[in-house]
Order: sequence, then C-alpha cells, then structure tokens
Amino acid sequence: MHVLCPTIAAAVLALPVVQAGSIQKSGLTVPAKYAAQRDVVKQIFTDSWSAYQQFAFGTMRSTYSSDLYQVARNHTINVDFSSSKTGGTVSVFETTIRYLGGLLSAYELTGKTDTVLLDKAKQLGDKLAFAWVGSNVLPYPALNFSSNSASASNTNIAEAGTLVLEWGRLSEYTGDTKYKTLAEKAMSAIASRTDTLLPGLAGQGVQPATGAFSNKYISWGGASDSYFEYLIKYARQTNNANQLWVKTWRTAVDSTLRSLAKVHTLDSPRYIRTTVGNWLMIADMDTSSRLRHVGSHLQCFHGGNFIMGGKLLDNDTIVQAGIRMTDACVNTYASTATGIGPEGFAWVSADGNEGPSAAQTAFNNIHGFYVTDGSYDLRPEVMESNFYAWRATGNVQYLDNAAAFLEAANARLRVSATGGYAVLNDVQNTASSQRDRTESFWFAETLKYLYLTFDDPSRYSLDNYVFNTEAHPLIAPTALATYNV
Ligand SMILES: *[C@@H]1O[C@H](CO)[C@@H](O)[C@H](O)[C@H]1NC(C)=O
Ligand SMILES: *[C@@H]1O[C@H](CO)[C@@H](O)[C@H](O)[C@H]1NC(C)=O
Ligand SMILES: *[C@@H]1O[C@H](CO)[C@@H](O)[C@H](O)[C@H]1NC(C)=O
Repeated sequence: MHVLCPTIAAAVLALPVVQAGSIQKSGLTVPAKYAAQRDVVKQIFTDSWSAYQQFAFGTMRSTYSSDLYQVARNHTINVDFSSSKTGGTVSVFETTIRYLGGLLSAYELTGKTDTVLLDKAKQLGDKLAFAWVGSNVLPYPALNFSSNSASASNTNIAEAGTLVLEWGRLSEYTGDTKYKTLAEKAMSAIASRTDTLLPGLAGQGVQPATGAFSNKYISWGGASDSYFEYLIKYARQTNNANQLWVKTWRTAVDSTLRSLAKVHTLDSPRYIRTTVGNWLMIADMDTSSRLRHVGSHLQCFHGGNFIMGGKLLDNDTIVQAGIRMTDACVNTYASTATGIGPEGFAWVSADGNEGPSAAQTAFNNIHGFYVTDGSYDLRPEVMESNFYAWRATGNVQYLDNAAAFLEAANARLRVSATGGYAVLNDVQNTASSQRDRTESFWFAETLKYLYLTFDDPSRYSLDNYVFNTEAHPLIAPTALATYNV
C-alpha cells in the first residue's frame, strides 16, 4: 500500500528530513553571540594573503584586482605544467591535493561553466599520470616534470592512496576513465592486502611496483593519514559503488579502537587512559608490534574522520570516539602557554611510555601528554576535527575552541612588520620566535575550516560536500540512507 491519506502525508512532509546517513545535526545555526568571528577569520585571511602575495610571489603588484578570486584564477590558469622551473621533482600527492583538488573545486563552485579550469585540470592529470610506470600498481611519489620520468624504490600509503577523490572527479568531468582507473588501482592495491599487523591497518611503506609493504608501521599520522581519510570519503563520494572502501575503513577503525586506543590492565581491557585527564589517545604500532604512545598534529584529523564515518555508518560508538579524540587534540592547544598546540606529542600510559624527561613528566602529570616537538606549522587538523565536532553535535564548546584559537593566532602568529602569519617555533613559550614560513594550507585549510565553523552550517553542509584532504570542497551526490554494507 503506497498511498498515504492526505493528512498523514502532510504531517510527514512537514517534518525535517533526517537521513540516517547525514553528518550534520539538523536545524543547526550559529548563535548570534559568535556573529563577529567570521569577519575575524576574513581579516586574518586578507592580511595574511596580502603579505604572502607580496613576499612569496617574488614581485609586488603595485595594483591588483581587489577580487582575490580573479587574481588566484588568473595565476592558476597561467601555471606552466609542461616543465619544472626549479630543476627539482614534483610531488604527485601534493600536486593532486593542492592543484588538482583546487582546480576541480573551483570549477564546481563557479557553476561548472569555466572550462578553462577543467582544461587545466586535465592537462595536469595527463602530466601526473606519468608517475605510473609500466604495469606498476602504485604511482612513484615524485615526477620530473621536464623529462616525465620517475623512479623510487618506496612510497607511502598517504602519497599513493590519497588520489581517488580528485582523479575520480577528473574522470567524471572529462569522460575519460583513465584517471579514476589509475587512482583506484593504487588505493585498491593497498586496501586489498591482508598481510598487515592489525586488520585493516595498512603499513606505512609500500613498493610502487608490487603494492607490497616495505614497512608495516601503523599510524594515523603523517605518511599514512589521508589514505585512511579517503577510504570513507571516497565511499561517500561514490555512494559505495565498490564496497572495499567502506569495509576497509570500518575494519581499520575497529582495529584502532580495539588495539591502539586500549591498554590491557590487570582489571580489564579499557580505552587507553592517559594517566591524567582521561583523554582518548590513539597510539602507533611499530614494526615489532609494540605500541608507541606518540601523537602528532597531523594525526589529529582522525577525530573528524571518525565523526564523519561514524555518522555515515550510523555507529554512535565511532562518533563518540571521534568526539573524544577531537577533545584530546584540542587539549594539546588548551594546555600550552600560547593556546596553540604542538607538532609532536606523546603521553605516559599504563603499559609503558616513550621515556620523557623530568620536565616532560611534570607537564604530563598536569595535562595528560607532553610535547616532543613544540613548533606550530600553521596546520589545520585540530581545528578541522573541531569543525566536524561542531557540525555533528551543535555543542557551542567547539565554537569557543575555535574563537580561542583565533585569539591565540592573532597574539602569536601575526608578524607585526608585515601583517603576515608565520610558523611559531615554540608553543610553550610566550616569547617564542617565529619562522619565515607560510604554507598554502594555512589559507586552503586552517582558515577555511575556521571560517566555515562560524558560517551558516547549511551553506557548505557536510551532507552536501566532501572536503578533499586540502579542504577543497567537492559536491557530493545525494546521500544513501546508510553506508553500512
Ligand atoms: C595574469 O597572470 C599572468 C601570469 O601569471 C600575469 O602576467 C598577468 O599580469 C595576470 N593578469 C592579471 C590581469 O592579473
Ligand atoms: C629532470 O629532467 C631534466 C631533463 O631531462 C634534467 O635536466 C634534470 O636534471 C632532471 N631533474 C632531476 C631533479 O632529476
Ligand atoms: C560500531 O563500531 C564499533 C567499533 O568498531 C563496533 O564494535 C560495533 O560492532 C559497531 N556497531 C554496529 C552496530 O555495527
């Protein structure tokens, strides 16, 4: 019986549509109290960009269009991808996530009419495709843009396994399946291997020719990170066209919660509890299957990724773990003298530790972790997960976290002489020096996630876009009711 009586149908239609697979809390709005924060981010962006343009582009334009998008577009479509201007090789991964992702996202966000952007993306894809040599399943990590040659004995799963969102989209828009086939072949070679130390958790090092592991070290941090991120994001972007992605992600997450987030104590197995503060930390596992209680700023995307995937799978255990992981990463910010979190950290736990100094132990005893590398490289991951936590829960604590970071950024990262924003050498020192360095991910990711945290949640809803690992939004298809298979 498929006919509803009219009054019931009307009542049903009046309810907000909440799909099981949706990520954002329905009806979410940013309270008026935070109205000014979006403009704070905008100001940081324009100040920072103007210093970046002046110093990083080598020449100072005496006049330039005040329309930053047009300046950026013009610059981008004039990049010559036919040869290398520096004599060095080009990273296939970084060029994919920054340039290819940026071109495709700009093409979509401007209504899919500016075909110059798509042509440029295709030109770049054709160039990068030289990274797959012969019948190799994985691309070489770096390519000589002048000779189109590449070679290397090893690559890692992040470099070889973080291409599918961009290459898949390129195939969709060009009608040429070659790009998608290459990138899927690489991720599939990694995801299909069963010779891992823990189920679903691919080792960090892989050999381009065979896809076999050269190193089975397990981590959610750099050199592994975005491979795991893309498993669930690509499942969403392709609506489970191939079940391998969601199955591998779910197995990886399950192993993580079972084996990297728990210690077995005399009483019972339980989540790893830092000795102080009860923060949920995710350990690494080294090639001797030993847990290493180390974390990193790069790793801290994991909370947001668990929240996203947990929502898609309608699994609250995973969502709640993601929220706790996010809170633990935010704690690395809240605990320092500058209010900004470190590049590297570790913690003391019941089953061993990494050998902290007396000063580190004292810090751990108060904050539940200690700093191993105190620089802050303008990275996004903590504010990225904080953004997912806000959109999924509607808890204003996450807005407060972002506002606190903006205040700290203006106090610590701003370069008074130029108005730019630069790397901080020591987050534990309020008199820390800065480094003459600004990476493009400060603009593409950190400031974008902060802006979106305070923006109308329905504008760039996490239910309508999948963000690539450089935070370039790509339009998502209408969501399935669930991604469980
Ligand atoms: C566009 O970019 C090219 C190359 O980067 C540059 O020479 C030219 O001045 C730019 N034009 C405008 C209007 O900005
Ligand atoms: C790249 O190839 C060009 C042309 O063959 C060569 O001159 C250059 O040395 C190569 N660069 C590197 C870093 O191998
Ligand atoms: C949710 O995820 C957890 C952690 O992987 C797992 O133990 C549990 O079985 C999942 N629940 C369902 C209903 O699939």
